[in-house]
This record gives sequence, structure tokens and C-alpha cells, in this order.
Amino acid sequence: TLLAAPAHADDKYPDHPINMVVPFSAGGPTDNVARSLAEAMRQSLGETVVVENKGGAGGTIGISQVARAKPDGYNVLLMHIGFTTSPSLYKSPGFDPQKSFQPLGLVVDVPMTIIARSDFPANNIQELVEYVKANADKVSLANAGIGAASHLCGTMFMQALGVDLLTIPYKGTGPAMNDLLGKQVDFMCDQTTNTTQHIKAGTVKAYAVTSNERVPTLPDLPTLQESGFKDFQVGIWHGLWAPAGTPKPVTDKLVKALQDGMANEAFKERMAGLGANVLNDQANPEALAKHVDQQLPLWKEVFRKAGVEPQ
Ligand code: MLT
Repeated sequence: TLLAAPAHADDKYPDHPINMVVPFSAGGPTDNVARSLAEAMRQSLGETVVVENKGGAGGTIGISQVARAKPDGYNVLLMHIGFTTSPSLYKSPGFDPQKSFQPLGLVVDVPMTIIARSDFPANNIQELVEYVKANADKVSLANAGIGAASHLCGTMFMQALGVDLLTIPYKGTGPAMNDLLGKQVDFMCDQTTNTTQHIKAGTVKAYAVTSNERVPTLPDLPTLQESGFKDFQVGIWHGLWAPAGTPKPVTDKLVKALQDGMANEAFKERMAGLGANVLNDQANPEALAKHVDQQLPLWKEVFRKAGVEPQ
């Protein structure tokens, strides 16, 4: 007798909400991308995607949580460049970027901006450089912890100026921004997905962008390169991952939802408004795996050259 093929659990996927971990606080740049993406993916999956903010240790706590999560398709991670910098910055980051995850695809690439509290004395990038150099013992720099994009950019900026400033770590640049708006901290380097609205509203001072070209949504801001910072360029790419071992039929559905979500008009419009570039061509597992393989040795070398010891 022929046996009927058993109904496979994967066929029913998804039949309850999916958890998308953002390893930083709510109301920040990664959270802004995640919430737009979660809504766009919901429309494709027919299931809610719930964003869980799990900040701490520059994102490594949230990344590790997903690395250890059940590989059943109900746990995914949205993270950025820190996925490949933190393994050079921590002796035990709590995950292996090449083994702990099943890559799903690249999502967006986001430029950064250098901004300060609205009453900071410097009015342009040259004045900022002079002021920070002259007051290096007083100026404070906010970041989202070691491994965060703001930490990376802030460290590059301090190195370019030859200063070592007091840094104030937060669980995300969302809360760092609140303190900047409240004038409790002086300046930071943060992604346009968090800073655009405040720059446009004039509630912070903005000096420069970290991209090669000016950002269309912030056309008045010079690039760091055109301001005399040779080779200073950093873009914050983001990816989506599932834990390693997530079944192929399930990851196929997640990849499809990612691609559908990234093609969604509302998502594209929101990202464009925040200065983020949607990486539609690289929204697949192969592209993200390849990107991670390329980025890991690159950052390792950058930190080695800079004499940064993992902690
Ligand atoms: C955040 O979402 O808070 C940021 O991505 C933090 C950072 O990496 O600077």
C-alpha cells in the first residue's frame, strides 16, 4: 500500500508571529529600518513580524540571542556592519558570523552624519575639527557601545583628528539622540535613518556625511572627503539572518518575503526619505554570505592597523 506523504510542518509556516531582533534600543536607526521592513514583510508572509529590541554590548547581546534561538523560522536578526566588526572587537562576541547564522539577504546601506547638540559652538566641519582639537579634554562623544556603527565612525573620526575623547555609550543611538537633544552630550556620528528628521527640524547641528557623494535628502551637508578627510568613507550596510539550521523551505519563504518587502513602495519611499539605499540586487543569501566573508578580514585588518585590542 502507498502511504500518503505526511503533512510537513514547513508547509504551515508561518502560522504565528515571527520575532525580528534588533540588537539596539527602540527609536533608533536599526529599529527604524526594522519596523518598516517588518511591516513590508508581513504583507508578503501573511503573519505579523514583531520587532524585539535587545540592546547592549554594541549589539552583540542581541546577535547572540538569535544565534542561540530555535532555528524554526520564527526568529530572525536585523543587524548592520557591526555583525562583522564586533568579532574583531570582542574576544568572545557570543556568535560566529560565518557559522551561527543562515544569511537571508542584504537590506539597506545607510550613510552616517556627524551631528552635535544645537548649541554646540562649532558651525561647520572646519570649526568642529578646531574646537574638538582645542577642547579634547572637555568634549563628549556619544555612541551605541563597542561594535556599534556610531562607535566605528566615532573612532575613525577621533583617529583622523588625533584625539582621544570621553565617550558615552548607550544601548542604541535612539537614547543617545535623546541626550543630544537634551544637550547632555556634545556630538556623535550616527546614521541618517536616525538623524535626518532632527537635522531637517534644526534640533541638532549637522556637519558632514560619511558617504563618497552627498546624500540627496541632505544636499547641504558636505562629504568628509570633500572636507579634507582623505579616504574617510563608511556606509552602514544591514542584513537579515536566521539561526543556522533553519530549514530550507522556511528560509526560502523568508527570503521571498524579504525580497517582496524590499520591493514594496511604502518601504522604498520611507527608506529613500531617510537617506538609505535599498540593496534589492543583493537581497539573497549568497550575496550576504559573500559580503560577510569579504568584510570580516577587512575590518580585522583595520583594527589591527589601528592597534585596537579585542576586549
Ligand atoms: C542603533 O540602532 O541604535 C544604531 O544602529 C546603533 C549604532 O550602531 O550606532
